[in-house]
This record gives sequence, C-alpha cells and structure tokens, in this order.
Amino acid sequence: MREWQIEGGFGLDRLKLQDRDSPVPGPGQVRLRLRAWSLNYRDLMMVQGRYNPRQPLPLVPGSDAVGEVVAVGDGVTEFVQGERACPVFAPDWSGGDLTDGALRSSLGGPAMGLLCEERVLPVTALVKPPAHLSDAECATLPCAAVTAWRALITEGGITAGSTVLTLGTGGVSLFALQIARMVGARVAILSSSDEKLERARALGAEWTLNYRDEPRWGARIRDWTGGVDHVVELGGAGTLEQSLAAVRTGGHISLIGVLAGVSAPLALTRILMRGIRVQGVFVGSRDDFLGLNRALLARPDVRPVIFEERPFSTLPAALAALETQRHMGKIVLLPG
Ligand SMILES: NC(=O)c1ccc[n+]([C@@H]2O[C@H](COP(=O)([O-])OP(=O)(O)OC[C@H]3O[C@@H](n4cnc5c(N)ncnc54)[C@H](OP(=O)(O)O)[C@@H]3O)[C@@H](O)[C@H]2O)c1
Repeated sequence: MREWQIEGGFGLDRLKLQDRDSPVPGPGQVRLRLRAWSLNYRDLMMVQGRYNPRQPLPLVPGSDAVGEVVAVGDGVTEFVQGERACPVFAPDWSGGDLTDGALRSSLGGPAMGLLCEERVLPVTALVKPPAHLSDAECATLPCAAVTAWRALITEGGITAGSTVLTLGTGGVSLFALQIARMVGARVAILSSSDEKLERARALGAEWTLNYRDEPRWGARIRDWTGGVDHVVELGGAGTLEQSLAAVRTGGHISLIGVLAGVSAPLALTRILMRGIRVQGVFVGSRDDFLGLNRALLARPDVRPVIFEERPFSTLPAALAALETQRHMGKIVLLPG
C-alpha cells in the first residue's frame, strides 16, 4: 500500500509517496482500504508548516476519507468485512466537550493521518456513513461538514427562522449553508466571486455579497438582516471586525478559521457590551458526526458540493489547486 508523508521539512515539495506493508489490526481494531479522500485548508497549512511549525515529522497528513473494512481484529462486532466506514476526525473524542486528549488524537496532525491507501483504526473511531452517498461524497464529511454541524446545531442551536452568515464558498462554508437551510434558517453568504454567489443562491442563500467589492460588509449584512443570529467565522483576524458588525446584539460567532490571518488588534468592548458569544469550534465529536449522518439520511436531496475529483497520486498538485481558491466546495481524491 502507498502512503503520503511530509518528511525532512515542510512544503509541498516535501510530500513523498512511500510503499508500506499493510498494517495488521489488533484487538478492537479494523483495517480500512481507503476509497476516497477529501482535502481541507488545514491539510495545506499542515504541509506548509503554517498549522503547527513544531509538528514532529514525518507525518502522514489528511483527516478525511472513507474506506472499506478489509480485516477486523479480535472482539470487533460493529463492522464486518466489505462494509463502508468513515474515520472520525479525532478518534479519542466520542462526545461532550473537547478535551486535550481528543485534540492530541486529531488525524493528520498531531496523529498520523489518512492520506494513505490502508489504515488501521480502533472501531470506536469509525462511523457508518449515509448509504445513499457516493464514496467521494462520504469523504467530504469528517472535518468540514462535522465542523459546520457542531457550530450551527450542537453549539449554535439554530432553528427555523434563525439567520446565519457564512464566509466564502469553501468546504466548511457550503456545508454551513446547506445545514442551515436543512433546519429552515435564512442564510447570508460572502464570496470574492459573483459567479460563486449565483451558485450559492441556487443552494438556498437568501443574501449574497461580494467581499472584494464591499470590504466593510458587516454593516450591509446588518442592514439586510437586522443583525444575524450566528456567524460562521472562517476568515479569522482579517474578518472578525466585520463579523462583529454583522452579528446581532446577543448573537453568536463560531470562530473556526484563519483564512485571513491569525492575530489582529481587537476592541473587546464591542464583544462584551453587546453580549456577543464568541466561541472557538474545533471540528466535532463522533456524536456530532452521528447527528450529521442522521440529518443527511433524512434529507437525501442535500448532497455535498464536490468541485473536482483527482487521482490520489496527485496530492501535491491538488493542494496547490486548493491554495488558488478557485474551488467551490470540496476537492476529492480517488484511487489512482
Ligand atoms: N476549527 C475547525 O475545526 C476547522 C475545521 C475546518 C476548517 N477550519 C478552518 O476554516 C477555514 C476554512 O476551511 P475550508 O477547508 O473550508 O477552506 P477552503 O475550502 O479552502 O475555503 C477557501 C474559501 O474561503 C473563502 N475566503 C478566503 N478568504 C476569505 C475572506 N477574507 N473572507 C471571506 N471568505 C474568504 C474563499 O471563498 P470565495 O472563493 O468564495 O471567495 C475561498 O475560496 C480554514 O481557515 C480552516 O483552517 C477550521
């Protein structure tokens, strides 16, 4: 089996495809033959050394994949050979609050990830993905979709009629749009591209705005919506000030991404005097993944948005494509 590794230093040119022996499952473990993988902005940052410059190498990157069970260890009753399974983002996070132990188990850094053809994992780190979704669609779920689910549903508690703002048209943002629409919430979305905004309208966005044309978009969103109940904050330092202008007094900002920087001066009075809940979100637990899957099963018309599919062997080029931000939705790798 082949496995991608970051070795000898960071950078797309340090990704090496290696041959390895097939791993053998121990008690309580299963071996998956992975059949589709999806890429996240986090994978790009990890490979470039921007996510954690102190991450020990070599590292197998990647957190998102779906596979087929090809061998089971002693005591495994939950899965049989031939069944499909999705690993969860953090194998040691079954439910409840995030913990240090859960963080340490995150696949693709610090724990070895999934950009390999076979992987042994504890059975407790797996979920059965919705049967009606393709392999490529299932592979988009573990990080981006679970993050949007935890932000809006588990932590955000949005309901029909809630208003949500989400930033950009990447993986997390489009899942946020789709999940918000599934529960009947109303969605505002930003993009640098009018063409992508047009497609976001087709996915159910009610308010659309080009952030390149209008860099001070917060006031406009507030005018349109009266102040949104919930912001899916993916830009970080470069966008938080505008998100604070867009959210209603007493509203909620899920701090998820750093697409536009990791640190910036901030007037804290804007948060405390308006009673805004700013909450860090780090993907989600296995329970979150199970909740998402139940919702997707009930709404088979809602399908992950896949921008393109590429062969597994082209990972460096696929990550370079992700960096251009021409995509809308997810980039998926398939065997080859
Ligand atoms: N905390 C967590 O658990 C967690 C989980 C998943 C992801 N993340 C983070 O969330 C962010 C998004 O991840 P992703 O995988 O969804 O990324 P992605 O698919 O690569 O999304 C990139 C898109 O974000 C939009 N964007 C970039 N800069 C922007 C800005 N200044 N304002 C508004 N939109 C902007 C662009 O959309 P347009 O092309 O439409 O302009 C771009 O195409 C990343 O920072 C990632 O590390 C965090």
